[in-house]
Amino acid sequence: MVRLKNVTWLLVTAAVAWEAGKPLVMEEVEVAPPQKHEVRIKVHFTSLCHTDVCFWEAKGQTPLFPRIFGHEAGGVVESVGEGVTDLQSGDHVLTIFTGECGNCRHCHSEESNMCDLLRINTDRGGMIHDGESRFSTNGKPIHHFLGTSTFSEFTVVHSGQVAKINPEAPLDKVCIVSCGLSTGLGATLNVAKPKRGQSVAIFGLGAVGLAAAEGARISGAGRIIGVDLNPNRFEEAKKFGVTEFVNPREHDKPVQQVIIEMTDGGVDRSVECTGSVQAMIQAFECVHEGWGVAVLVGVPRQDDAFRTHPMNFLNERTLKGSFFGNYKPKTDIPGVVEKYMNKELDLDKFITHAVPFSKINEAFDYMSKGECIRCVIDMGA
Ligand SMILES: NC(=O)c1ccc[n+]([C@@H]2O[C@H](COP(=O)([O-])OP(=O)(O)OC[C@H]3O[C@@H](n4cnc5c(N)ncnc54)[C@H](O)[C@@H]3O)[C@@H](O)[C@H]2O)c1
Ligand SMILES: [Zn+2]
Ligand SMILES: [Zn+2]
Repeated sequence: MVRLKNVTWLLVTAAVAWEAGKPLVMEEVEVAPPQKHEVRIKVHFTSLCHTDVCFWEAKGQTPLFPRIFGHEAGGVVESVGEGVTDLQSGDHVLTIFTGECGNCRHCHSEESNMCDLLRINTDRGGMIHDGESRFSTNGKPIHHFLGTSTFSEFTVVHSGQVAKINPEAPLDKVCIVSCGLSTGLGATLNVAKPKRGQSVAIFGLGAVGLAAAEGARISGAGRIIGVDLNPNRFEEAKKFGVTEFVNPREHDKPVQQVIIEMTDGGVDRSVECTGSVQAMIQAFECVHEGWGVAVLVGVPRQDDAFRTHPMNFLNERTLKGSFFGNYKPKTDIPGVVEKYMNKELDLDKFITHAVPFSKINEAFDYMSKGECIRCVIDMGA
């Protein structure tokens, strides 16, 4: 890292995606100073999430290149722009793909985390303040991703997308709290809310589903039933407290019926983390009449439609959905980090791989082959 021009511009190394699906290229990139309501962060550890891979592949998404991907990260604030009052240089922080402006009707509501100003926007390539990018190489601007762009030694982020955390928290672990982990964990703890001893079905045992299972374990659920089409997921899921497994491909009956039979009428709670609309319907129809609650987390395809008989609602099954585990990024995420510090939440088992920044493309290989839950990238190595 070299400081340029009155100690305000930085020359750093970033992993730039020049083209869809092509390996990232390590480039010297200029990082502009933070503008109004922005902070510049030295990224210490970042982890790779499926969403990075999806937008890098750009199949079905608006292609926006060159771009710096990355959204799950832990780092330290280097400098702050005008109007930033809640953060200062030296603060330990997590970047979050969706924000909390603190001023809109959602931020004022105790129930919502869907900020009007800073809600996730996958198509935006510049900063909200002026639409410009803070990254450039040889005078050519490079697009941001989710307002975070953490595959860079330094990044500039809106202060509403920055959660200030306990400085004692190890950033190589808590960086994964930024996205997938909190999404699954919060879907169970904040929305499904299983009571001690209750049964919970988790549809989809990827990182988000395993985090939902971790939420069920923390809640003291009695039975945790994992449902996945891929039997390779079952062995790993045992470490997450999943006690029984159902592979819909191994049954002639609809999976909701299999689960209803296994549980004498249905599970108390279910959390869907697949993105498949069939699994969403199954997750709803397998909860018990009278009190069962199903929570949808997976992101469906654009033309999907959820079809179920209205009697399912009349029989007092409840269907809910959750965005980012219903956590408010700035208000609630520091508390999730505290759960790890108190040893209530186990993060270590999610981190199956680690690579130095120079080998970031290997993380994409692990993720594409379905070999890892989370690969943490060490920006200082
Ligand atoms: N709501 C939110 O805020 C939010 C945030 C992040 C991710 N997500 C979504 O959560 C979902 C899970 O993310 P992930 O990273 O864990 O994905 P993943 O691909 O690692 O895991 C999904 C799992 O679901 C399984 N699966 C697919 N179809 C199935 C079916 N019909 N029945 C049973 N299992 C099935 C797959 O085999 C896989 O193991 C994705 O749709 C992702 O887009 C939502
Ligand atoms: Zn807001
Ligand atoms: Zn993510």
